[in-house]
Amino acid sequence: MTQRVHSIGVIGGDGIGPEVTEAALEVVRAAGVVMTTEHFDLGAARYLRDGFVLDEATLEQLRGFDALMLGAIGPAIGDTRIPGGTLERGLLLRLRFGLDLFINYRPFRGVAGSLAQGCDFAIVRENTEGPYAGEGGVLRRGTPYEVATQGSVNTRFGVERCVRYAFERARHCARPKVTLVHKTNVLTFAGDLWSRVMTDVQGDYPDVAVDYHHVDAACIYLVEDPRRYSVIVTDNLFGDILSDLAGAVTGGIGFAASGNINPTKTGASLFEPVHGAAHDIVGTNRANPLAAVSSAVLMLEHLGEDEAATRIARAVRDFEGDASILGTSGITNQLLERL
Ligand code: IPM
Ligand code: MN
Repeated sequence: MTQRVHSIGVIGGDGIGPEVTEAALEVVRAAGVVMTTEHFDLGAARYLRDGFVLDEATLEQLRGFDALMLGAIGPAIGDTRIPGGTLERGLLLRLRFGLDLFINYRPFRGVAGSLAQGCDFAIVRENTEGPYAGEGGVLRRGTPYEVATQGSVNTRFGVERCVRYAFERARHCARPKVTLVHKTNVLTFAGDLWSRVMTDVQGDYPDVAVDYHHVDAACIYLVEDPRRYSVIVTDNLFGDILSDLAGAVTGGIGFAASGNINPTKTGASLFEPVHGAAHDIVGTNRANPLAAVSSAVLMLEHLGEDEAATRIARAVRDFEGDASILGTSGITNQLLERL
């Protein structure tokens, strides 16, 4: 069989983003995967230099890759030169929406010593709709009569493709179960749509168990009894919040990986660690690359490089030692040795 060559667009981004991305690329190459990489200078530093965020031509260029890897985007804490939303809406969400990355897949595995030690579950977050869609507006801004609305967009099409993806993931799990998390008792319009879609899709997966939790209760269960979960499916905003909580109880978002996935492959999927740019530790060899490496594992699964994905995932799982002592290079070297 001839070796496949994957084209990867790399957005290292800001802070520790480029460091963890380089570590992940090194591990992927060491696992025998052949890639061409093209780097894109995007993020806070770029914006501060010349005001560029993302344009249509660059978006189209990014669409054409087999996959995209992103490190982290954002200015240092306390740096107020970039208006809120500029990079979030202009870059990250524009990539998610523009490339139709309608799934945000975030797997969690409780590391030793964490609240959720030994737990294995995943959050399937709808990634193109909900309160993130940008619906709403403001009237009489800055006056005492100001009005601001920000609606949640939920389409039958968008909800159904997300719920189906969750069931597809769940059927391959050790415990095939999908838990819908929402707030159907208050958000009755959106909640009703999500619930009915769950019921409709469930019929096609008789071997997958289903459950429902209100989002506030799910916050308690995630802390007190995360073993209840196998695959959680939820809307964009609940998924954003729950995945930070899930990261915290499974060992810190230093370990959390994510895939912004377009399963239909009409746009390149984007893989990124959940953590931020951590400008305070740039260049100190203190960045933990495990989340970026785990994100690369998701990328390899997406690319059909299952063998390399399994080997790297095992090396991450078997990782031992104090990440804060080993540092970026120590952790990377241990992974390379374990491959
Ligand atoms: C995430 C982040 C983003 C989100 C921000 C940076 C736009 O918090 O990927 O979870 O809200 O989705
Ligand atoms: Mn988030």
